[in-house]
Amino acid sequence: MTKIGFIGAGKIAHALMKGLLSSGAVTPSRIYASSNTEESLQKVKILGVNTCLDNLWTVKNSNITILAVKPLVFPKVLHEIAPAIGPDNVIVSLAAGVTIDSIQQRLPHHAKVVRAMLNTAVQIRDGAISYSTGKNVEDPDQELVHRLFSSVGLTLEAEEKHLVAVMGLSGSGPAYFYLILEALSDAGVRHGLSRDVSTRHASQAMLGAARMVLESGRHPGELKDEVCSPGGVTIDAIYSMEKAGVRAAMMDAVDACIKRNYELSRLNE
Ligand SMILES: NC(=O)c1ccc[n+]([C@@H]2O[C@H](COP(=O)([O-])OP(=O)(O)OC[C@H]3O[C@@H](n4cnc5c(N)ncnc54)[C@H](OP(=O)(O)O)[C@@H]3O)[C@@H](O)[C@H]2O)c1
Repeated sequence: MTKIGFIGAGKIAHALMKGLLSSGAVTPSRIYASSNTEESLQKVKILGVNTCLDNLWTVKNSNITILAVKPLVFPKVLHEIAPAIGPDNVIVSLAAGVTIDSIQQRLPHHAKVVRAMLNTAVQIRDGAISYSTGKNVEDPDQELVHRLFSSVGLTLEAEEKHLVAVMGLSGSGPAYFYLILEALSDAGVRHGLSRDVSTRHASQAMLGAARMVLESGRHPGELKDEVCSPGGVTIDAIYSMEKAGVRAAMMDAVDACIKRNYELSRLNE
């Protein structure tokens, strides 16, 4: 059975560990996690995984090592783990804006590098994941990584140049939808619903709509048209949303996210 290492035990590492463990794809004894402080390891220790303050220990113990540290500490961590990377180790980076090439340059020439973008919903196995593979990654390595990620969400292979769009869309996406849910919930409260009932109805409507799109494969515009009866109530709501520029606001939000990602990437170079 595959052994998974985590370097970094912060928010995304914790979310991914939780998802992998609840899927049964891996048992706690097969997860090895290291971080730079005992404090940050405490949260993952509760999951029953093996922990250590030594990143080399993580690489030596795992077949797949997931790098879940901030881009700023990436060069330091890569320099530290490079000597322990053998030809069978697969290194998966979760860092936004750090390219496969820049990782590869800091590791031995045989290093197998995968770059992935995922979101926090992996913890409930409803994540959205895209990944790209480096030159040394072979089919069995890719199948392993793909299977692992598939256990925690929708997993699609992508060209590396598209990972930034994935980050702007589904990586940060949960925050956009929480904001919309909060606004809809406020609307329900304004019209007399309790906060709880309002939030649950709004959330279920969002979940149902998303599942309709994913399961039918139909264009969202077509599904929207089906809800809008001629002269009915929904088309008036849609008109109001269009007047407020909701569509452009969502596209602008993704643009802003991508722009900021490029700024941060330049700072980390
Ligand atoms: N959060 C998300 O939704 C998300 C989604 C997709 C991708 N990502 C990417 O995932 C990476 C981590 O993000 P995050 O949100 O999980 O950040 P985070 O919560 O700040 O976690 C970073 C972790 O790295 C540890 N760390 C720092 N220096 C280290 C070192 N030298 N060796 C080992 N561990 C070290 C930190 O420990 P201390 O706290 O003790 O310093 C902490 O446990 C980032 O590159 C981010 O771009 C995040």
